[in-house]
Amino acid sequence: MRLSVIGCGYLGAVHAAAMAGLGHTVVGVDVDEAKIAALSQARAPFFEPGLPEVLASAMASGRLSFTTDFSAVAGAEVHFVAVGTPQSAGSDAADLRFVDAAFASLLEHVSPGDVIVGKSTVPVGTAARLAQLVAGRVPGATLAWNPEFLREGFAVQDTVSPDRLVYGVPSGEEGVRAARILDEVYASAVAAGTPVIVTDYATAELVKVAANAFLATKISFINAMAEIAEATGADVTQLADAIGHDARIGRRFLNAGVGFGGGCLPKDIRAFSARARELGRGESVRFLEEVDKINLRRRDRVVDLVREETGGLHGVRVAVLGLAFKPHSDDIRDSPALDIAVRLAEGGAIVTATDPEAIPNARRRAPHLTYTDTAADAVADADIVVLITEWPEFTNLDPHTLGHLVTHKTIIDGRNALNPDAWRTAGWKFRGLGR
Ligand code: UDX
Repeated sequence: MRLSVIGCGYLGAVHAAAMAGLGHTVVGVDVDEAKIAALSQARAPFFEPGLPEVLASAMASGRLSFTTDFSAVAGAEVHFVAVGTPQSAGSDAADLRFVDAAFASLLEHVSPGDVIVGKSTVPVGTAARLAQLVAGRVPGATLAWNPEFLREGFAVQDTVSPDRLVYGVPSGEEGVRAARILDEVYASAVAAGTPVIVTDYATAELVKVAANAFLATKISFINAMAEIAEATGADVTQLADAIGHDARIGRRFLNAGVGFGGGCLPKDIRAFSARARELGRGESVRFLEEVDKINLRRRDRVVDLVREETGGLHGVRVAVLGLAFKPHSDDIRDSPALDIAVRLAEGGAIVTATDPEAIPNARRRAPHLTYTDTAADAVADADIVVLITEWPEFTNLDPHTLGHLVTHKTIIDGRNALNPDAWRTAGWKFRGLGR
């Protein structure tokens, strides 16, 4: 099939490449010339395992192209809109500027019979509004909403083999046709038995934010238990193992630590709360404000622990291991690691930070920190080591070797990713979160 993808950021670039990899002919469009220039040379503008390979083979096949020229979408029968919906400056609500601009430009080149597929995470009610716009501008074109659940670090795999497919479509024949066309787009996943939920716009929009709200709540739940564990001497990791054996609860997303960050969970729960308040249902999701607060408190806790262990931050040499919001990513959006590093430096500490992939992005955001390429360089002469992003490069570090490099053998494990016994045996003072 001939597809267009509007917005070649994280979601769009991966979607375009993966769809071309599945055999479709795809044109990716973005207003950012630098991004398009990189993608046109099969270079991924961000770190995502597996993406460079998929991009290279799709470009070589001739089925994938990128441009800043919207008129290139004419001829495609399905148009995916995958632009960002960041948090608005000064409020919790989602900023829909990019979505509105994408639809305005796209609709100039869409033909009757085409299907426009929204993938961006939007406040519930947006698709119904956009459907009216589409009907007014291009009668005979159809809007569907098809939320995306990909995880950074597994984006290609999640796009090609998703857990489920959700199609929000209009009622009647028009919706049946849109669902049939989406089934064709995702033919390989459908053939593999992927569950397909065909529903209305509002449900499709809500599925996405509800899923992220649930995941965020699960993480903050275990982090709340970590706070109680800290007050009682209990061990939150054993607690998580024990309750995780209950299949109704499950062990995944119960890792206590510095909590969630990234370009999705934090802004999505805030936007959900803001939308619920607009709908007069703020009370229904008020707990999400608590989820956000618990999450942010864990960052305070790490800063406090460093202060407690060193007797004050001023002039203390702190090695920070990790800058990305999670391993296997170079994304520092709302990253607990970068936030903590910056706050330690603000408190007077001499911070040296490292990360396998995120240093260039971190340096742009926080040029005043010192960055080193390796953990060994970061910990040299450190008074305290703080592990915040659990890259294997850090969790596999040998406590004996590291012990020879630091000034004081004190480590804070912000992700509960290290074996405390191994570090203590090697002579380290070890502090975890909630244990
Ligand atoms: C998330 C959703 O998982 C995905 O479905 C959605 O499409 C986009 O948002 P992502 O932002 O890539 O994906 O990250 P995810 O793997 O969900 O992790 C989010 C954050 O939670 C990370 O900062 C991670 O370190 C943290 N986390 C995760 C925990 O603190 N504890 C856990 O047990 C799991």
